[in-house]
Amino acid sequence: MDFISQQLQKQDEYHRKDQRIKANDKQVIYTRDHFATEFDTNAYLTDFYTKIDDPAMQLVLTFLPSIVARLPHRKRLLDFGAGPTVHVAACFRNNVDEVYLADFLPQNREELKKWKNKESNFDWTAALRLLLSREGKDWSLAKSTEEDARNKVKDIFYCNCFENPSVKCPSELRGKFDVVTSFFTLEYCSNTLDEYRTAVKNVVDQVIPGGYYIMGGILEETWCSFGGRKFTCLYTTKDFVIDCLRQASLEVDDEKTYLMEINGMFLVCAKKREN
Ligand SMILES: C[S@@+](CC[C@H](N)C(=O)[O-])C[C@H]1O[C@@H](n2cnc3c(N)ncnc32)[C@H](O)[C@@H]1O
Repeated sequence: MDFISQQLQKQDEYHRKDQRIKANDKQVIYTRDHFATEFDTNAYLTDFYTKIDDPAMQLVLTFLPSIVARLPHRKRLLDFGAGPTVHVAACFRNNVDEVYLADFLPQNREELKKWKNKESNFDWTAALRLLLSREGKDWSLAKSTEEDARNKVKDIFYCNCFENPSVKCPSELRGKFDVVTSFFTLEYCSNTLDEYRTAVKNVVDQVIPGGYYIMGGILEETWCSFGGRKFTCLYTTKDFVIDCLRQASLEVDDEKTYLMEINGMFLVCAKKREN
């Protein structure tokens, strides 16, 4: 091999190495410390709520309507860690009088406010059609379903699962929510099992005694990608999650608790003890 060929080969190798480093950069796994800068609200909505085949959206919109149908009509729902999403509000539109949405990130609360004021560009049709299908209703009701949900949403709050109280709301609402939901949130916020346990307790503290806590999440996973980025996720098991729910004053047993596990995800609905 002559000198020029050697130099070209070296250049080529260097270029390929450079490309690999750039490719690895894209594979950076972000932590909760990067949420504020790396959580892209629009990309998140597009990734999860425009493709009706996304397993997480399928899980919630397939099984939540059947839980809602079995619960008694209640006054207040809080969706804790709602992100920029309103599909939970849509699921409960006929079963509660008031819906409150709460999220940690300002960009998500901003999107929720835009939606409430009819200024959002995001099209919820795909998710609403999936919900209507589960309810055995016609797709032509998508617009009125969204309107009904919008009218039920009374306020949008800041929340933080590591604070107690975990939601920044007027004192008359604090700890007075009849139903609290939280989907795909606590395992992304927690770095340790102890933190996760504390987070569950802080969120369940917002449920009124005799009310219900509904949670969905990922099991036995260490990362998850959304909005084109990878984020760390706390590795939990079903038994551990159940133990946390029990310690947070929820009744968890085979008879009374709705608990399902599918494709590495879980959905649970448990009643809070009266005393
Ligand atoms: C994966 S998103 C889930 C959003 C929505 N519940 C859904 O199912 O699509 C996780 C959410 O956790 C929120 N979050 C991050 N840190 C939090 C904290 N310390 N307390 C409560 N929520 C937090 C983020 O703002 C984000 O909206």
